[in-house]
Amino acid sequence: MEVRVEAGDISKADADIIVVNLFEGITSPGGATGAVDAALGGAISQLIALGDIRGKAGEFTMLHTFGRIPSPRVLVAGLGKPADFDIDAVRNLAANMVRFLRKPGISRAATIVHGAGIAGLDAAACAQAVAEGAVLGSYRFVRHKSKNNGANDDRHDVALLTVVERDTARVPLVADAVGRGAALAGATNFARDLANEPSNHLTPALLAERACDMAASAGVAIEVMEREEMERKGMGSLLSVAKGSAQPPKLLCLSYKGRGGEGYDLAIVGKGITFDTGGISIKPAANMEAMKADMTGAASVVAAMQAIAALKPKADIAAIAPCTENMPGGNASKPGDVVTAMNGTTIEILNTDAEGRLVLADALCFAIERGARRVVDVATLTGAATTSFGDVCYGIMTNNDALATQVEAAAAAAGEKTWRLPMFKEYDEYVTSDVADIKNTASKGAGTIMGAKFLERFVGATPWVHLDIANVDMMDKDKGWVTKGASGYSVRTLINLALAMENA
Ligand code: BES
Ligand code: MN
Ligand code: ZN
Repeated sequence: MEVRVEAGDISKADADIIVVNLFEGITSPGGATGAVDAALGGAISQLIALGDIRGKAGEFTMLHTFGRIPSPRVLVAGLGKPADFDIDAVRNLAANMVRFLRKPGISRAATIVHGAGIAGLDAAACAQAVAEGAVLGSYRFVRHKSKNNGANDDRHDVALLTVVERDTARVPLVADAVGRGAALAGATNFARDLANEPSNHLTPALLAERACDMAASAGVAIEVMEREEMERKGMGSLLSVAKGSAQPPKLLCLSYKGRGGEGYDLAIVGKGITFDTGGISIKPAANMEAMKADMTGAASVVAAMQAIAALKPKADIAAIAPCTENMPGGNASKPGDVVTAMNGTTIEILNTDAEGRLVLADALCFAIERGARRVVDVATLTGAATTSFGDVCYGIMTNNDALATQVEAAAAAAGEKTWRLPMFKEYDEYVTSDVADIKNTASKGAGTIMGAKFLERFVGATPWVHLDIANVDMMDKDKGWVTKGASGYSVRTLINLALAMENA
């Protein structure tokens, strides 16, 4: 979908449909809605009086205009109660709107900047949220649907959304914000495409190829590290996961230098298990297909670089993704095996299904070797995250309050809810092993914290935040900006954080 900005009066816009809005409880609309109502001879007010339009959040009412204005249709979007209305509501409204318009014949929609009128929210923030929500909400994964998929195929999406701004002086600001929103959402949709991809279409090598293609068009530097180099660097932890698979592992390292200094202000590190069978500690068959998305962390950090390169913060950012399958096989790691990570730490592998922390261990060491002054990792690390949080928020764990606070602000701005889990030193003994320095699982509960306590051993004193997104990576239905399947969680948080590094 393309999003454009135009100066003018929405009631005169040339489109297949124009979108205005209404707060709950308003009986005589003002602003743009009032102007359209007047042009339609009071049709909207009459429907409000009839009770057919109530302005409830999530309500969409379509009217036909029969030649009274250039657009043949008007959509009135309910905003809900003014007290509940915020930027998140604007983003979700735009997403719900493009899905509502998903029908044949509506390919060019025009909308006002919802929220910037009587709601009084910041105009740039609203314009960004409209573009972001529209691009996020229109996403669906149809790559493997054949063209002859039957008569009920309704794969027609809005192709062009024009944001119409009445105040000409405000148009440049709105255009800038719309561009930002489209960049954030476009990167998120790229991450969704990678995460939704079945594992036979997205091996580590194919993921590396997709990352290289993106990097080439975005103008980001990328290196793909092969097994031999991992061996030379002593990445025994990452290699212990890879050795069970016929597919060679790849370690992706993308680099954006907006400041041009030494090292990196921030390294974002993402778990890239292109399929997690559990290995010798094999998972049950039910729902195992969901493990094609166990590379969501890698997808997030790679995709975030696309928007970072487009938005050009004056900061140096690296994205690192250790990518491999986790398979059982004649050469796979076995429970009880001891391996050595790049920083010399020895690890007892008690459960081969706790593989995410094993691949991240070496990736975190590598990030620090590359000169990262802050590290944020993102991973579908533990099923326990679902036990703690359902699918409402994700867990963040840290060794540094200041960086965690920045991550929380970046997530809040993206409309993602986070919750901090404790890293009390009393949890340290959960990872101590009888035969090696540390072990990769314990049976003492607190599974999500245990994962973070393991990772903490590989970052030293470097400020670090761990995002466990295992409970939000895949969703079972469309809801506001979140789409069914790969949700896109964490991508815009990482981009917002990278943008904030400009002042760090
Ligand atoms: N990839 C899984 C975690 C996961 C579970 C992600 C469900 C998304 C949905 C991870 O590698 C894993 O298997 N974790 C184990 C750890 C355990 C063996 C300590 C888990 O959570 O059961
Ligand atoms: Mn696993
Ligand atoms: Zn996993």
